[in-house]
Amino acid sequence: MEDVSDPPFRAVCKDNGADLMYTEFISSEGLIRDAIKSRRKLDIFDYERPVGIQIFGGDEESLSLAAKIVDVTQPDLLDINFGCPVKKVALKGAGAGVLKDIDLMVRLTEAVVKSTSLPVTVKTRLGWDDSMLNIEEVAERLQDVGIKALAIHGRTRCQMYKGDADWTLIGKVKNNPRMHIPIFGNGDIDSPQKAVEYKNRYGVDGVMIGRAAIGYPWIFREIKHFVQTGELLEPPTVEERVNVVRKHLHKSLDWKGPIVGINEMRRHYANYLKGLPNIKEYRSKLVTLNDPAAIEAILDEIIIRYSNYEIEATPIELINYHEKCG
Ligand SMILES: Cc1cc2nc3c(=O)[nH]c(=O)nc-3n(C[C@H](O)[C@H](O)[C@H](O)COP(=O)(O)O)c2cc1C
Repeated sequence: MEDVSDPPFRAVCKDNGADLMYTEFISSEGLIRDAIKSRRKLDIFDYERPVGIQIFGGDEESLSLAAKIVDVTQPDLLDINFGCPVKKVALKGAGAGVLKDIDLMVRLTEAVVKSTSLPVTVKTRLGWDDSMLNIEEVAERLQDVGIKALAIHGRTRCQMYKGDADWTLIGKVKNNPRMHIPIFGNGDIDSPQKAVEYKNRYGVDGVMIGRAAIGYPWIFREIKHFVQTGELLEPPTVEERVNVVRKHLHKSLDWKGPIVGINEMRRHYANYLKGLPNIKEYRSKLVTLNDPAAIEAILDEIIIRYSNYEIEATPIELINYHEKCG
């Protein structure tokens, strides 16, 4: 997830049971121009394997060059994003924009498959809009040009993040006898029960989780525990939560340096500390302090102040990211 799934975030997801993770999407043009921001997103670490690097673009040549750049960093797989709905991507003919032209999508995918020795996977949506639900054709044709797995978000581009994800078409793709590659279902999974229910109902090979992991990386271990035992794991204690915040912070400082590390960590505190009464006062300190030691001291205070507090295991709130369909 853009601005979320960087190495520090991935580290805490890995600790808490994520089986396969992806980088934020990376612009193929950015990689070719050698833009620093794009290059940084190629950073992957051995402890997080298996990890996929995700690229996007709307042009065969750039995607193929970008695939060659990704090759050098040796992730476990290379993923192409044909699902991003935001205007700056989709209306420029990349991300979910490519869903309007399946021939182009096939050509772009084939160009990437031919340019890399890595397994290539694709992440996409059901189609552009309700009148163009072409995922079944997309799945067959992308499989035919050599992708090794397909992840489907059960919304159209025009839905952005509105309404509920519709998994029926994902199930159809999975149950198409012509399909033999793994199909991952995605959209609105926010609890162990829902993960298992949807996996069983639609038969998918895996469940992909986005928003529910933001501020709650424990979702992965909770799902695994439920799959293995049929029982729900206790939610993390306040101390455990704060210790994960701490690890996230340390990883941010290590990877981004003291200024950016502190700044970018600010967007995460509210998500981690959601549900604690009167947390605002601590939160405002966390997002204004610049000294790591002072931030750590506030984290210590939070542990003491809420030591006997149990945050109820309520369904995880799915954050909505809306933008008008252009
Ligand atoms: C802030 C944010 C950034 C995202 N960035 C990406 C991205 O870079 N690549 C991608 O494939 N999907 C991205 N997504 C979409 C998610 O991967 C996922 O498909 C979507 O949120 C639905 O799944 P969920 O209900 O589990 O969140 C992003 C979603 C959010 C909320």
